[in-house]
Amino acid sequence: MSKPFVYGTAVFGENFTDRKAETKHLKMNFEAGVNTILISPRRTGKTSLVYKAVEQITDPSIKVVMMDIYDCRDEYEFYERFASAVLKGLATKAEQAMTLAKSFLSRLSPKISISPDPSQEFSVSFGIGPKTEKPEEILDLPEKIAQKRNLNIVVCIDEFQQVGEFPDSIGFQKKARGVWQLQKNVSYCLFGSKKHMMDKLFQDKSMPFYHFGDMFFLEAIPKEEWINYIVQRFATRNMIISEEMAGRLCDRVQLYSSYVQQLAWNVLIETEGEVTEQNLESGYELLIRQTSALFMRQLANLTVYQMNYLKVLDAGVHTGFQSSDILEEYRLGSKSNITRVENVLLGKELIDKRPDGVYFADPVFAYWFHREYCK
Ligand SMILES: Nc1ncnc2c1ncn2[C@@H]1O[C@H](COP(=O)(O)OP(=O)(O)OP(=O)(O)O)[C@@H](O)[C@H]1O
Ligand SMILES: [Mg+2]
Repeated sequence: MSKPFVYGTAVFGENFTDRKAETKHLKMNFEAGVNTILISPRRTGKTSLVYKAVEQITDPSIKVVMMDIYDCRDEYEFYERFASAVLKGLATKAEQAMTLAKSFLSRLSPKISISPDPSQEFSVSFGIGPKTEKPEEILDLPEKIAQKRNLNIVVCIDEFQQVGEFPDSIGFQKKARGVWQLQKNVSYCLFGSKKHMMDKLFQDKSMPFYHFGDMFFLEAIPKEEWINYIVQRFATRNMIISEEMAGRLCDRVQLYSSYVQQLAWNVLIETEGEVTEQNLESGYELLIRQTSALFMRQLANLTVYQMNYLKVLDAGVHTGFQSSDILEEYRLGSKSNITRVENVLLGKELIDKRPDGVYFADPVFAYWFHREYCK
């Protein structure tokens, strides 16, 4: 039986709702070879959306290479992952991958092994390290293959913010941008969480990837869409939730995609027949219990100033932190301290900077924090 609600992983098929306009936009970018940068707060649905758009491409001359670099610690690991993702994306069999590697990366000595993991037929490694000459050749691998085979390739790189953590990150970014921007048959879709890092990589004029492509900010799924989805998913289990109650469910988590699905599942577990007020409350309490251990960990090493800053947000202040009243009342230290505090909290993804001020990044965290520390 299919799951009525899914959270924590990318969603597909009947667990994917709405996003019609965004899917179309992304698909058109992919088909036209437009570079795309996809940014949103955590767990809004970036990965799910990219897969959805890729699924809808029908042109057989367009090939898509998917890679996730969340665990790449330096540029060499990136090159390994990049080369192997390109080969795997374009070859279905180990022998084909080997042939491609030999003809396009002849300087390296690729090793291809049949993977013990049954979900992956083969894995590729190159032993790339600081002594490897011309990493640019690896960055140019998709273009070489695309030209030779008369293809267009879209390379999708998930958790791209990770490049900000590489030693000599700027050096790497310059190399990558330098090579990628000259490619004619290859385009890139770069996306990831850690919004502040993605913003820095792509929105800061001094950074190599500034203006690299179409900036695409993924917004929340509209409430009406969620209501339809929730009502229908309850119905698949022969249960009823009124539109009004489904709307309240969305409000409780401010339309935050993964929480909508998690809370809906919690409520479904609590319900017999039709969802009541009490079911919604118990589902929400369960959500707090499920998330509180993680929230505690996120606060573990915060300084008094950082905690006080969060308390200011809780009090409804979103701008003007450097005014002497606020500094004094909430004991935030000196004016110059504020930027440091904000940078730490942004790095931990506890707060989010929006055009109209600073807010808690996570609505459930905000509720929990208020209950634990501000009463
Ligand atoms: N289109 C959608 N329809 C329904 N639920 C969605 C959709 N997109 C995302 N979700 C919900 O949000 C969760 C996270 O989705 P996904 O992993 O795609 O987001 P993400 O932005 O890539 O997250 P992360 O920041 O962790 O990389 C899913 O498990 C699902 O519960
Ligand atoms: Mg993701």
